[in-house]
Amino acid sequence: MRKQIVAGNWKMNNDSKQTKALLDELLAKRPQSTNTKIVIAPTFVNLQQAVEQAAGSNIIVAAQNMHQAESGAYTGEISVGMLKSINVNTVILGHSERRAYFGETNSILAEKVKTALKNNVTIIFCFGEELADRQSGNHFNVVETQLREGLFHITEEQWGSVVLAYEPVWAIGTGETASPEQAQEMHAFIRSLLRDNISSTVAENTSILYGGSVKPDNATEIFSKPDVDGGLIGGAALKADDFLAIVNAK
Ligand code: PGA
Repeated sequence: MRKQIVAGNWKMNNDSKQTKALLDELLAKRPQSTNTKIVIAPTFVNLQQAVEQAAGSNIIVAAQNMHQAESGAYTGEISVGMLKSINVNTVILGHSERRAYFGETNSILAEKVKTALKNNVTIIFCFGEELADRQSGNHFNVVETQLREGLFHITEEQWGSVVLAYEPVWAIGTGETASPEQAQEMHAFIRSLLRDNISSTVAENTSILYGGSVKPDNATEIFSKPDVDGGLIGGAALKADDFLAIVNAK
């Protein structure tokens, strides 16, 4: 049985006080016995307080990024060891904003993936096509290349620490969602890539999340598709009630 996961990417929102308040509300209102894994990714500076606050609950605290080197002269960067030292054992890698605004290429991401998995940190690996790719019918190729170049170098065993997040760039923060059918079509394609290139066990066991304008009113329909194992949520993760409604939709 694949893990069902709803993850909130808080991006560059919420200072220390706001982080505490939102997490307090999530802790108070969350479903306590759910099969859905609940993940939140606050900004780096608030990770430690969030880990301490969420300790003993079913909310997992993840980082939004990390550097590919384990240490060294990389001013302003955060290493995997630093995350682990505060009990952050999950990291989002390859978000489209990192790719678009911070120059993260497939080959840089391949390094980040290597470093995270070598250190037993679970990755939520994001990828997805831009609008022009979809309009030209190139979306399957783009997604396949992102996966092949960024991820397919890992060992079969390491796939146990990988969650995929398909996020079409044209649907992120735009209010425009892929239709449930478009999401299912791509997720089924991704699973077939895993089957053909890795193994049928990995294809069956790897969770594939959908991200891009998931809201309480469209989550149930998207999540009802057989190859959609949850969501990566941006805007709607900033309100406890909306985020939890999405969690409860899975
Ligand atoms: P959104 O963001 O839900 O605001 O579209 C999704 C994401 O960036 O992961």
